Amino acid sequence: MSQLLVRGGQPLNGEVTIQGAKNSVLPILAATVLTGDQVVLRGCPCLRDVDASVRILQSLGCQARWEGDVLTVDTAALNRCEISDILMREMRSSAIFLGAVLARLGRADISYPGGCELGPRPIDLHLSGLRDLGADIREEGGVLHCTAARLTGRELMLSLPSVGATENLMLAACGAEGTTVISNAAREPEIVDLQDFLNACGADVSGAGSTSVTIRGGRPLHGCEFRCMPDRIVAATYLCACASAGGEIYLRGARERHLVTVADALRQAGCAVSADGEGIACRCRRRLRAIRPVRTAPYPGFPTDAQAVLMAAMLKSRGATVFEENIFENRYRHVDELTRMGAEIRVAGRVAVVTGVERLSGAAVRCTDLRGGAALCVAALAADGETRIFETAHIDRGYEDIARDLRALGADAVRDDNA
Ligand code: EPZ
Repeated sequence: MSQLLVRGGQPLNGEVTIQGAKNSVLPILAATVLTGDQVVLRGCPCLRDVDASVRILQSLGCQARWEGDVLTVDTAALNRCEISDILMREMRSSAIFLGAVLARLGRADISYPGGCELGPRPIDLHLSGLRDLGADIREEGGVLHCTAARLTGRELMLSLPSVGATENLMLAACGAEGTTVISNAAREPEIVDLQDFLNACGADVSGAGSTSVTIRGGRPLHGCEFRCMPDRIVAATYLCACASAGGEIYLRGARERHLVTVADALRQAGCAVSADGEGIACRCRRRLRAIRPVRTAPYPGFPTDAQAVLMAAMLKSRGATVFEENIFENRYRHVDELTRMGAEIRVAGRVAVVTGVERLSGAAVRCTDLRGGAALCVAALAADGETRIFETAHIDRGYEDIARDLRALGADAVRDDNA
């Protein structure tokens, strides 16, 4: 099992190019099923979750090959509609394949995706939307048997702005006859990226980024070449790393409009965050001060995926900061590990209160989930001595090579694959 060794106590100074966005490329890989053609994804991040999606595509009969950071997928030969339990469990968001496979083949059998470290991850909104489009979905022995002789476009209303449900229904609606309008749609930038990809393949999708997405379905789709957007949560992670360790960094490719709430929080804390059209600079020269309560919310609210890394950045601030996690039930699992480093955090249900301390100490800590693991790296940069981070496979799901990136930013961080 690989480990990360981070020696803290020195300010950052450096530049890194932000990788492609995991949460954009995953639904786009599912969308390739709709094209029955070759798709070239440039700037595709090399991640465990991307590998899991490629294995799902290959299990469906599709081809895929990497050349550097270019992933070429060909779904012409797709000839299976089942996704195995093993593959479904490898990546919780594999339910995103349901709409596309159903639209392409008229049938899809997937095992019920399990929960994950963050708590239950229901897909009831995905399923009710697909039924509204005309799918018949039966569950037997943990497998969802989905059939649709035809899908018919219509008004769909989401009871909450679910990212995955919005994406799944966009893909199914591309294969539906007529027009579908998804109301109360999620507004995340990754959904805009998915719209741009689908339209590059010949679809007619509009409204992504607003609460109402319109899909004029039934059009034949073709392949395309596409470059995914930069990963805003990876960028948020490194901004928080700079806030935690101090210093000055530049994140090439990061887009300020995707990071408004994160940049605002860091400015409140005393960092100078600025954008120049090609990236984002962050400078932090003194001890952070506590900030207004951080409440996670659907985009454009504060992103739940940045909660852990911002919390890690605030551990040595002056004063106390309140966090309120409103998206997932179990997204404070990193707290116990941070307290092993000397952090003072009290959790009560959805609320966590971070009281800044003067010092943190390097320790042996364990990743509990993807963003919790990234938070341990952020905290380690501000700790005295060495922090050894175990179970880094969680981090590899969303970061190509966090040690490589942190070193580019001037940190003393190495990966030990022989541990
Ligand atoms: C996406 O997950 C992201 N994953 C998550 O990123 C992110 O945290 C989340 O959106 C919120 O922004 C990918 O894009 C691959 P949701 P998703 O459906 O689609 C409830 C990371 O760290 N819900 O918007 O699963 C659900 O339980 C990951 O990169 C239902 O109740 O998120 C949750 O409480 C973690 N029924 C809330 O909605 C449903 O049918 C938000 O879930 C679907 C969701």
